[in-house]
Amino acid sequence: MGDVVLAIETSCDETAAAVVDGRRIASNVVASQAELHSVYGGVVPEVAARHHLTTVNAVVDRALDEAGVTLGDVDRIAVTRRPGLIGALLVGVATAKALAYATGKPLVMADHLHGHVAACWLEPLALDPPFVALTASGGHTRLDLVDDYAAPRLLGQTLDDAAGEAIDKGARLLGIPYPGGPGLEALAREGDRTAFDFPVGLRSRGPDQLDFSYAGVKTALLYATRDLGDDGVQARRADLAASYQEAIVRPLVDRLMLAADIHGVPAVSIGGGVAANGRLRELVEQAASGRGLRVAIPDRALCTDNAAMIGAAAAFTPAIPWPDYVGEDAIATAPPGGIAA
Ligand SMILES: Nc1ncnc2c1ncn2[C@@H]1O[C@H](COP(=O)(O)OP(=O)(O)OP(=O)(O)O)[C@@H](O)[C@H]1O
Ligand SMILES: [Mg+2]
Repeated sequence: MGDVVLAIETSCDETAAAVVDGRRIASNVVASQAELHSVYGGVVPEVAARHHLTTVNAVVDRALDEAGVTLGDVDRIAVTRRPGLIGALLVGVATAKALAYATGKPLVMADHLHGHVAACWLEPLALDPPFVALTASGGHTRLDLVDDYAAPRLLGQTLDDAAGEAIDKGARLLGIPYPGGPGLEALAREGDRTAFDFPVGLRSRGPDQLDFSYAGVKTALLYATRDLGDDGVQARRADLAASYQEAIVRPLVDRLMLAADIHGVPAVSIGGGVAANGRLRELVEQAASGRGLRVAIPDRALCTDNAAMIGAAAAFTPAIPWPDYVGEDAIATAPPGGIAA
């Protein structure tokens, strides 16, 4: 007996649907709106919501088709309830409620960040607790101790900007179009990561702290570009990108390893859009294998926003029986502690 979940994710600018059967991903469809928003240099919430509305049904149909199932084969429907852009979330929630209500199925209202952590539960990684999870994305940067997938426990988080936000803003300063992450990574590959000594946030707090700060490094890049002037920036773009990327990913790796040491876990994981970064993946792999830790690095498509991870979170989130969910709503903010399970 399988547990077939149809999952829907529309919290930001990806319209996504997936079918997950236990730990197996049967389909994972993502329609990105990135191009639509790139002319504005970032996500425009109203544009995102309207585009989800025109795309979501086709994306759901495709996820079912690719999985070779019909709605009738689905045991539960899951959707991202929070956190995210409220108009964008509402499209997914209304779609999922309608599908679940019309077919008499239970509904799981999942948490987006819980999804980023639970992505490692899926095959082929199939990571089981205990482990320390690093989640680094556009809106969040945090470490959790996962003794139980149902209740990740916050160990540390950013005190100001998220790593992805710093990456996107830095990319913009270097003239890289939105979304900045992949472009910054490509440019950084051609540069010298030791060329500029950008500050690592909260280093002065001592060796045992697990929080992050990215406001300082962002400002340092801004000042460096001002000092260099337009021509200087053009000449040193790749070096700036490489050094800046290094200053962002280094503390992620160091504090993930520190958290693993402090809590004595046998494994670590990474997730969220920034975990698609090749330099971060390489450094985490090296650091973990040097310590004899197992490391779970999801496929890039499972790091950036997707619905398979919401299907995974659904395995650890109570389902609401038909028809009790009709009054349930989307919520823009994260709950206290950051992850709702
Ligand atoms: N290859 C890459 N290198 C570095 N950063 C990347 C890469 N690919 C994507 N990112 C970054 O990941 C972030 C997007 O991650 P994700 O899609 O999980 O964010 P989000 O869903 O908007 O935010 P959250 O998950 O916090 O709600 C962006 O800041 C983007 O620049
Ligand atoms: Mg995300």
